Amino acid sequence: MSKPAKSSTGLESFSDADMSEVSKDFFFEGMVLPVPVYLKMGPGSYLTIGKKGDRAAFANLHAYNNPSVGVFVQLVDQPMLVAYITQLTGKIINQDAVPENTKIKFLNSLTTDALDSLARSNFTSIEKVKKVSQMVQQLGQKLSVFDDLLSILSNLNQTDSKHSMTTCLVSLLIAEEMNMTQSAIQEKLILGALLHDVGMKYVPKDILEKPRHLWSPEELQIYEQHPLKGADMLREIKDIPQDVLLIIAEHHENAQATGFPKRLRDVKVSPLARIVGVANNFANLLFGSLAQSKSYTPDEAILYIEEVQGQPFNRQVFLALKNIINKKHLADRA
Ligand SMILES: [Fe+2]
Ligand SMILES: [Fe+2]
Repeated sequence: MSKPAKSSTGLESFSDADMSEVSKDFFFEGMVLPVPVYLKMGPGSYLTIGKKGDRAAFANLHAYNNPSVGVFVQLVDQPMLVAYITQLTGKIINQDAVPENTKIKFLNSLTTDALDSLARSNFTSIEKVKKVSQMVQQLGQKLSVFDDLLSILSNLNQTDSKHSMTTCLVSLLIAEEMNMTQSAIQEKLILGALLHDVGMKYVPKDILEKPRHLWSPEELQIYEQHPLKGADMLREIKDIPQDVLLIIAEHHENAQATGFPKRLRDVKVSPLARIVGVANNFANLLFGSLAQSKSYTPDEAILYIEEVQGQPFNRQVFLALKNIINKKHLADRA
């Protein structure tokens, strides 16, 4: 059968594997579209509702308002759309009287970005990552310090806000694997994981730009204070629970008492900080960090933690991480 005539129907044929569904929450009327946007009308069949550079005018489109019709962009365009929304809404967050839907768009863009990276890494099933990212969107908005949280995240650069969000999603997945699914625990993990590196703001840029092996003992000491600096900074914001401050202060401690800044023994490290500590390390191995630019696959990251780092983390937490990866392998083989 011939391809539908594009000029008369506006329909285009794409392989579904090359398309990615995005949240309708991302769009607002009148925004300039950074990428072409489509509605999925059927398998392989997409209706263009806006071209790149067009102003969005979707509100009156019957099909757009149909909850069962999804909005799609081409897979290659998704990172650009997400970065655009993050930047646009992040700028507005620090103004007075920010509309609620702008805050939601901002949070959604951060979770979508992290979800996408985790899904591509093949760490666990897309459904599982989707579930925890929806949890962040829902529980996040319930937090009494939601506005403070967003304003801190919007002041981070994209690499750092993405690292915060991937650490957060991995923390929730580990907690779920450990059957720690009470919403009070999940809320604290979300807050602690999203804010764990706020203290990095006090580490001078010239230190961070230098390779780590060139740091002087004084520079290393300044870096190693970032967990405590972060906790001190947030102590000023009322309503941040003590457990969250502990996550931030202790996210670089480990079970062998070789972490920093306090070299605490495992029993002294708070249970939630043990989870965020593993998630932070794993996220850095998967997606790179200032200390290391190489990206590992989930299996390589596990091997690296065991063989190179000497598995310094809490045993149960590390086992939960391994279980998540093993379950994914089993599911792929089934
Ligand atoms: Fe850190
Ligand atoms: Fe970190």
